[in-house]
Amino acid sequence: MNKIISKLIDTHSLSVEEYESLLNNITDEEKEVLRQEAVKLAISVYGKKIFARGLIEFSNYCKNNCYYCGIRSGNKNCDRYRLTKEEIYECCNIGYELGYRTFVLQSGEDLYFTDDIMVEIISHIRNKFPDCAITISIGEKEKDTYKKYFDAGANRYLLRHETANKEHYEKIHPKEMSYEHRMKCLQDLRDIGYQVGAGFMVECPYQTNLDIAHDLKFIEEFKPEMCGIGPFIPHKDTIFKNEKAGSFDKTLLLLSIVRIIRPNVLLPATTALGTINPLGREKGVEHGANVVMPNLSPTEVRSKYLLYDNKICTGDEAAECKNCMSQRMKKIGYDLVIDRGDCILKY
Ligand code: 5AD
Ligand code: FES
Repeated sequence: MNKIISKLIDTHSLSVEEYESLLNNITDEEKEVLRQEAVKLAISVYGKKIFARGLIEFSNYCKNNCYYCGIRSGNKNCDRYRLTKEEIYECCNIGYELGYRTFVLQSGEDLYFTDDIMVEIISHIRNKFPDCAITISIGEKEKDTYKKYFDAGANRYLLRHETANKEHYEKIHPKEMSYEHRMKCLQDLRDIGYQVGAGFMVECPYQTNLDIAHDLKFIEEFKPEMCGIGPFIPHKDTIFKNEKAGSFDKTLLLLSIVRIIRPNVLLPATTALGTINPLGREKGVEHGANVVMPNLSPTEVRSKYLLYDNKICTGDEAAECKNCMSQRMKKIGYDLVIDRGDCILKY
C-alpha cells in the first residue's frame, strides 16, 4: 500500500506536506481503502448508530459580512427574522417529544441576543431538559461571554475555523474579521471546558490542497470533539455567486480522512452535502460520518436561513425531517438513536 496511506492509518498523523501529497495524488482505489478504514473506525467507536441533533436556527441577523455566506450583513435581499424566547422553547419541546437529546442553537452574529438574554435562554433549556446536551453556534464572542453560557448550562460549541491558513482566511472574510481572533475563540472554548466543534468548507474559493492540508493538521493537533465539513455552495447574493460548488467526492474523501485522524470525532453528514447530492447524507455516513442535524426550526422561517442556494429540507415539519432521516439511515443499515451522543474519548 502507498506509504503515506499506511502511515495515516497506523499513526493517525501526517505532516502537512504528506497531507498535501495525499490529496494531490490519491487514486480511486486508495480512496476506497480510506473509506473502508473510516467506516470501520466509526463503527468500532460508535457502532452502527447515528446521532441526531435538533437544529434550531433562531436568528438570521448577522453583523458580519463573510463573503461566502447568504446571511451576511451586506445581503439586502435577505429577509431577516428572529425567534422569540418562547418560540425557541417551543422548538425544544417539539424536539424533545421527537426524541432529540441535543439541541443546537444556531444564528448569525446577532447583537440583539445579549449575554443576559442568551444566559436566560440557556438556563431555561437546561432546567427544563436536564438530560439534554445544549450546543451553541452563534459565532465569535469574548471569553467571559463563552464562560457565562457554559455556566448557564451549555455543553458544546460549534465554531468552524473555516480555514487554517491566515492568507486564505483573509481572502474569504472582510478586513474587520481576523484569523487570530477566530483561533483564539476556539482556544477559549476549549479552555473553558466545552466540547468544541471546528471545521471548514470544501473547495471554498481560493482554497488549495495545501490549505486543506493545514486544515487537516489543525484538526489533528487541536483535537476538536466535533468537525463540520461540507462543500462550499455559492449563494446568489454574495460575491462568490459565480463560483462553482465544492466537489462531492472530495468532501467524502475528507470525511474519511478526518475520521481516520480522529477516530472518536463526532462528524456530521452535513445539510450542504445533502444539498449537492440527493444521497449526500447517506454517502457521508458510508464515508465515516456519524451525526446528522435535522432541522427543528419552525417551517415559516426555514427558507430564510439560507447560507447557500438550494438548501434542502426548507419546507418540512420537524417530525417529517426526523422520520425522513431515520428511514434514510435504516436503508443503509444504520440506526438513528435517541441519545445525547457525547464524544467517546477512546483514542
Ligand atoms: N456554502 C457552504 N457552507 C457555508 N457556510 C456558510 N456559507 C456557506 C456556503 N455558501 C458554512 C460555514 C459556517 C457554517 C455555519 O456554514 O462554514 O461556519
Ligand atoms: Fe454571519 Fe459570516 S455572515 S458569520
